[in-house]
Amino acid sequence: MQNLGILFILTNLVSVTAFMSGITLIADYACLISSSSSEKHEVRRLNPSVDALHFLDMDHFRTLTPCDDFDSTLDSILSHSPDTDAELVNWVDCENNKIKTLTRSMIHKYNILHSGAGILPVNGQQIYCHQRSPDKRIFPNLLDMFVGGVSQSGEESRVTASREMSEELNLSSPSSLSEKLFTTTICTSYNRCIVDCFQYDIAPSESSNIILQESEVQWGGFMDEKWINSAVDAGAADSDIIQQLRDMKINNNENEWVPDGKLVWQAWQAHHQKSNNQQRK
Ligand SMILES: *[C@@H]1O[C@H](CO)[C@@H](O)[C@H](O)[C@H]1NC(C)=O
Repeated sequence: MQNLGILFILTNLVSVTAFMSGITLIADYACLISSSSSEKHEVRRLNPSVDALHFLDMDHFRTLTPCDDFDSTLDSILSHSPDTDAELVNWVDCENNKIKTLTRSMIHKYNILHSGAGILPVNGQQIYCHQRSPDKRIFPNLLDMFVGGVSQSGEESRVTASREMSEELNLSSPSSLSEKLFTTTICTSYNRCIVDCFQYDIAPSESSNIILQESEVQWGGFMDEKWINSAVDAGAADSDIIQQLRDMKINNNENEWVPDGKLVWQAWQAHHQKSNNQQRK
């Protein structure tokens, strides 16, 4: 029932924006594009109005097809000649097949489905969380448990993962990075991304190599999974968590976490639960 409610909102949104502006529609199209495979594809979507996480599967998305005049809107967007120096990113379909190569700024501007990597840095039982720098364009000062980034056109996600770990934390040991563990698709009003997830095992000798790149990260520290779960669930109202953040000198008075990170974290927990259950069988 819950899904149906959201579908109703989504359907209306698509048709209203279709009248208002063809441009807005592209954002929905990128996610709604039909897929050939019948395999269910779970999409994690943040509903900003209720700040809750919802799940829609691709069968539902498939029932929403773009309107007839969509292709001409698309053509006009794509015909803008890209800046030759711009970073290029692939627009992908729901199965992560390339549709077109676009500039990264276009991908963000029209919220187009693309692919990327999410990496959980761990040392044994703890997870290396970080706080984004105050100068970041999006989500300044928010906390995140994942290091992540957008895959450049033609870049394998594991290469993206390795690049981001090196750029953000100066961690670059190839053997510390896992193979791809699972894939999840996140869908928010500002980001639609098929995320390949990895784990980076920080060896004790590597911890001292961690450097936070000031323009990206202002704080980092190892936290227990249990603490992360309680902090993520607590929201802004939990005075204990807020106090703990203050005690750690983390300047984040609202206990705010990057929404994309929260979505991938949820997928991570689900993945682990599933693989633990399989091991028990
Ligand atoms: C960055 O990591 C490398 C190892 O990959 C290390 O040799 C270097 O000292 C680190 N940089 C700093 C400033 O710690």
